[in-house]
Amino acid sequence: MIVLERAQELRDRCEHARCEGQSVGLVPTMGSFHEGHRSLMRTARAETDFVVVTLFVNPTQFGPNEDLAAYPRDFERDRAIAAAEGVDVLFAPSVDEMYPDGPPLSTVHVARLTDGLCGAARPGHFDGVTTVVTKLFSIVGPSSGFFGRKDYQQLAVIRQMAVDLDLPVSVRGCPLVREPDGIAMSSRNAYLSEDERAAARVLSQSLRAAADLVIAGERDAREVEAVVRRMVDAEPLVTLEYDEVRDARTLEPRESMEGEVVLALAAGVGRARLLDNVVLTVTGSEVAVDLGVGAGEREPGSVP
Ligand code: PAJ
Repeated sequence: MIVLERAQELRDRCEHARCEGQSVGLVPTMGSFHEGHRSLMRTARAETDFVVVTLFVNPTQFGPNEDLAAYPRDFERDRAIAAAEGVDVLFAPSVDEMYPDGPPLSTVHVARLTDGLCGAARPGHFDGVTTVVTKLFSIVGPSSGFFGRKDYQQLAVIRQMAVDLDLPVSVRGCPLVREPDGIAMSSRNAYLSEDERAAARVLSQSLRAAADLVIAGERDAREVEAVVRRMVDAEPLVTLEYDEVRDARTLEPRESMEGEVVLALAAGVGRARLLDNVVLTVTGSEVAVDLGVGAGEREPGSVP
């Protein structure tokens, strides 16, 4: 694996790989790797010839009072993990390299999909994400980009951007990976004390309970949301920011649990802001529940 810090060098390497007939896969990250990141690397490794992982804590997607300075960073550990996953290039640019003239004057904004959910609490956040991802797509020229369903709205926004702007990249959504106790893997879990960590389990538990209610026949989205709120509100260390049922593709609000819907939540636990979701596919009385995968489970076709 080679480590690069310069965008031009990354561009040249990717161009060379494409000239040799190799498909290029891109996994954008902010580092502090866990099994969620690793599963994306494995899927990219299985599906593309030349795998680029980017590690950049992107300042333009953090609000003024958010955790940019505190965001966990451990480059040597991340480098070893990426190498172990068979990554070809780890791109770890400085802020100056990505934004030599300060925050860019040109940005990418995806309307509507970014209004609610996390967009409501984090104004400008998704513009920072879509702009940096566009820059990375432009530098790397991947045939596929790999993103986790843990950040469900982010994935939907990036998909929409790729379609709207005719970007020649297939945006691949990959399963949400959980800790053995059900907590969604997140770099921000590092902020949690032992008590907070135990309390945070209520998030995935409440989504499971909501899914069970749908399996039992409940179709009213407000009732399903209420289950999550009740359970989370009973946990004093966890503050629910939102839990909402949305259309799984368009993210439009939904009244009823029919078709493919996502129940997404955000919550504050100590210093951490955590996300989680469950995707439900409801056809008549049939309910398929997608809560993601456990840490031990691997993607089909992945390298052990
Ligand atoms: P980061 O939070 O580092 O996440 C990088 C990728 O890993 C994202 O696609 C995210 O959805 C995925 N991921 C994180 N936790 C996961 C989990 N538990 N299961 C599966 N996938 C998981 O998301 C970002 O960085 C940034 O916004 C970025 C897209 C890199 C733009 O700066």
